[in-house]
Amino acid sequence: MIESIIRTQELTIRFGGHTAVDHVSLDIAPHTFTSIIGPNGAGKTTFLNLLSGLLLSSSGQILFKDQDVTKLPAHRRVRLGMGRSFQITNVFPNLTVLENVRLAVQAKAGVHYQLLHHHRKYSEFIDKAIALLETVYLCGKSEQPASSLAHGDKRKLELAIILALEPEVLLLDEPTAGMAVEEVPAILDLLTRLKADSRTILLVEHKIDMVMSLSDVVVVLANGKLLAKGEPQQIMENEQVQAAYLGGVFQ
Ligand SMILES: Nc1ncnc2c1ncn2[C@@H]1O[C@H](COP(=O)(O)OP(=O)(O)O)[C@@H](O)[C@H]1O
Ligand SMILES: [Mg+2]
Repeated sequence: MIESIIRTQELTIRFGGHTAVDHVSLDIAPHTFTSIIGPNGAGKTTFLNLLSGLLLSSSGQILFKDQDVTKLPAHRRVRLGMGRSFQITNVFPNLTVLENVRLAVQAKAGVHYQLLHHHRKYSEFIDKAIALLETVYLCGKSEQPASSLAHGDKRKLELAIILALEPEVLLLDEPTAGMAVEEVPAILDLLTRLKADSRTILLVEHKIDMVMSLSDVVVVLANGKLLAKGEPQQIMENEQVQAAYLGGVFQ
């Protein structure tokens, strides 16, 4: 039994003179839902980017299941089962929604595009892609080009692509950012189901009610530093945390 699926030790990154992530040592237990909160500019996105390998640290270590991955590029980490925080640019705009997910399913299976029409598994890939689109409530839009999706639907497509890669750890950076209010419950519901599935999830999120209802553990970053870590209720009652937010967010 591995105690930490992800462990950072004194993880630090500097951009010029600015230390965006500052000696953060954090253990993430497997099968837990951890949320990272903190004021704007606290270093939350940078921290996730360090974990996924989009950015390389200035100093400190990242261990994934006790293996040092600090210097590994992003694609190697994905192969090991570390999640990837996808961005809109990872979606092929001219392909349909279904094609985008099908390619991710195929990438996971390790089948190259050129070989595809010889491959008997093709319809299995399609079926799996459709199931994933059902999971994120995008089935009705499967034949549209990805470029035609509204912002909220693009985020759902990103989620389907991340899920297709079946990571052991899901790294999610504000999945509901920019979504219309009526779209948020669908994502909340999806995250609830993923949690029930006993996944390891690391979520950066501003919506504090969402954080409170989903999280086993809440981590607070401020000025790049780890300010607090604990159960949701404990974090809400932490005076240092309240001060970091100047009372605004938790009201
Ligand atoms: N590529 C970069 N180059 C320079 N500064 C950056 C870069 N990425 C982030 N920063 C800075 O690092 C700090 C943390 O940013 P970020 O991780 O995006 O914060 P958060 O996601 O918590 O709002 C901010 O001050 C931001 O301006
Ligand atoms: Mg951010």
